[in-house]
Amino acid sequence: MPLPSPLLTTHDLGCGYDGRFILDHVDLEFPRGQITCVLGRSGGGKSTLFRTLLLLEPPLRGDLRLEGSSLVGLSAPKKDQLRLRYGVLFQGAALFGNLTLAENVAFPLIERGGFARREALEAAVLKLGLVGLSSAATKLPSAVSGGMRKRCGIARALALDPQILFLDEPGAGLDPITAADLDRLILDLKEALGTTMLVITHEMDSVRRIADRIVLLDQGGVLVQGSKDEVYASPIPAAQAFLLGLLPKREGESEAAVLSGDQPLPYRGAPWPR
Ligand SMILES: Nc1ncnc2c1ncn2[C@@H]1O[C@H](COP(=O)(O)OP(=O)(O)OP(=O)(O)O)[C@@H](O)[C@H]1O
Ligand SMILES: [Mg+2]
Repeated sequence: MPLPSPLLTTHDLGCGYDGRFILDHVDLEFPRGQITCVLGRSGGGKSTLFRTLLLLEPPLRGDLRLEGSSLVGLSAPKKDQLRLRYGVLFQGAALFGNLTLAENVAFPLIERGGFARREALEAAVLKLGLVGLSSAATKLPSAVSGGMRKRCGIARALALDPQILFLDEPGAGLDPITAADLDRLILDLKEALGTTMLVITHEMDSVRRIADRIVLLDQGGVLVQGSKDEVYASPIPAAQAFLLGLLPKREGESEAAVLSGDQPLPYRGAPWPR
């Protein structure tokens, strides 16, 4: 079957901070309606790639294109407008602890979408329905399970009906059964909404369940990319070692940083009276 046309592409892209390259010569394509899992060592640049694709960091070289149009050098208002097409669950993203789940999902609708509070809350409850949380809409994050908080984070990322959903480590910190449930939700959303998804994960079980495509980053670049079957069949020894989980951990590599943001945050100064 031919690959769906790519929605987002990168061309000889360099990503990093203050002129220091973390990734270079990155040529990727993210086909429409597919889930691409982005894998690589801790500290290898996965979140940096996301930040560059989200236009939060300028590319150090090369180009990125959405539906064929270059996104490099856009004005700040153009970038803001474009970002409305992206939904993001940042790594370790926390919900606001003193807002209900519905208020958390309504937040981007009010702040970025210009919705009035009542409309935003109505839309938020619909979004919570999509992730199986309608009955928990009025609960605070501390009153629901970790898996439910993750679902709510996904509902918040979906609030503005994004064309592309970026999920950075959505299953981090979940037990295997809850992580499998979250994967089922991600697949259901892909089916129901047709959203193009980019998912960073360290969980190989999750990759096997949800990936249409895999991008494996290593040594400051793309080691291999392709359909799940193509990447699993890759003869490159480093790719095999990674996919089989045989790479030794580097010093200082730990999940702690991933999990640290997972507790609900206090949010003072909600945009509406409580
Ligand atoms: N805002 C920043 N400014 C400067 N350097 C940064 C910044 N954010 C990340 N880095 C550095 O960029 C490198 C890649 O980090 P990045 O967070 O992209 O890795 P990652 O693959 O997402 O790792 P993990 O799996 O641990 O989340 C690291 O050396 C990190 O210290
Ligand atoms: Mg990261």
